[in-house]
Amino acid sequence: KTGTGPLLWKIMAYINTVGVVGAGQMGSGIAQLAAAHGFDTWLVDTNPEALTRAEELITNNIHRLVSKGHLSQKDGDGALTQLKYSSNVQELSSADIIIEAIVESEGVKKSLVLELDKIAKCSTILASNTSSISITRLASATSRPIKVIGMHFMNPPPIMKLVEIVRGANTSDDRLHNQGLGGEVSELFGKTVICSKDFAGFVVNRILMPMLNEAFYALYTGVASKEDIDTGMKLGTNHPMGPLELADFIGLDICLSILNVLHSGLGDNKYAPCPLLVQYVDAGRHGRKRGVGVYDYRKSSQKGKT
Ligand code: NAI
Repeated sequence: KTGTGPLLWKIMAYINTVGVVGAGQMGSGIAQLAAAHGFDTWLVDTNPEALTRAEELITNNIHRLVSKGHLSQKDGDGALTQLKYSSNVQELSSADIIIEAIVESEGVKKSLVLELDKIAKCSTILASNTSSISITRLASATSRPIKVIGMHFMNPPPIMKLVEIVRGANTSDDRLHNQGLGGEVSELFGKTVICSKDFAGFVVNRILMPMLNEAFYALYTGVASKEDIDTGMKLGTNHPMGPLELADFIGLDICLSILNVLHSGLGDNKYAPCPLLVQYVDAGRHGRKRGVGVYDYRKSSQKGKT
């Protein structure tokens, strides 16, 4: 495992195997990070096509990191050997920490954590990469609420520097064993950690999503074109991406789910999703991953016109 000093030894004593469930945008990135940092890693998805796509993506990414000198050939080969793919969740019985990154639906996540709770060792930490769903409620579905944490990576996980660690109402405050360990694993992955209490949207999405929603309202009410909204925010506020472009990158379905959680969880109409965002999602325009969202990515490598 990479890293040095007491932190490395402390983590090594507790975490050898990392399990990741969900091989989409986020899960594949988290699995890549774990394997590249020397952990035995399982990536599990119920959809075999998602696993094939993830394997291809991760293998290419690791080769690129090696060719650019960001990872040694030995560590790159090690990462590819240490990462295993499966559609069988039972493979996670030996994992010391399991990070779920499946669809942003409370019902689906609850049934998964219930299943993981039965499969995993008693000492295993169950972490959720949820963007907004209550960790307290997910934890309550298990027999180990003290060992359930939020571990919210940003997209794409191998590149973005932040992880939000979220402590549910019943998460143990034992620094070493629970949320502290989640934070330390994240730090070992090279991330900066912030801690959030368990309120809808945590810190980052509570602030980010209303801005993205407002960009949809600006488009919906005809204040400006999508290009001008994005250029305005990029050059006017020094953001690397415009809000509509960023929403497409995150996934419009994910943005809508998060806004719905903010709206119902915080009980304020200012979080109500813009009807245009709802309509795009209803039309299957989920953003880059589907080839079309606010922009059309199918026509060329550049953003197209929709
Ligand atoms: P995605 O749609 O790209 O991937 C989800 C994957 O989960 C799919 O491959 C699907 O087959 C799999 N899946 C669904 N149900 C499953 C089950 N019961 N067991 C195993 N696999 C299952 O979604 P994405 O964007 O990777 O998001 C995943 C999670 O990460 C969500 O909770 C989301 O809110 C969160 N997140 C997303 C970010 C983003 O920018 N997209 C950023 C940070 C967090």
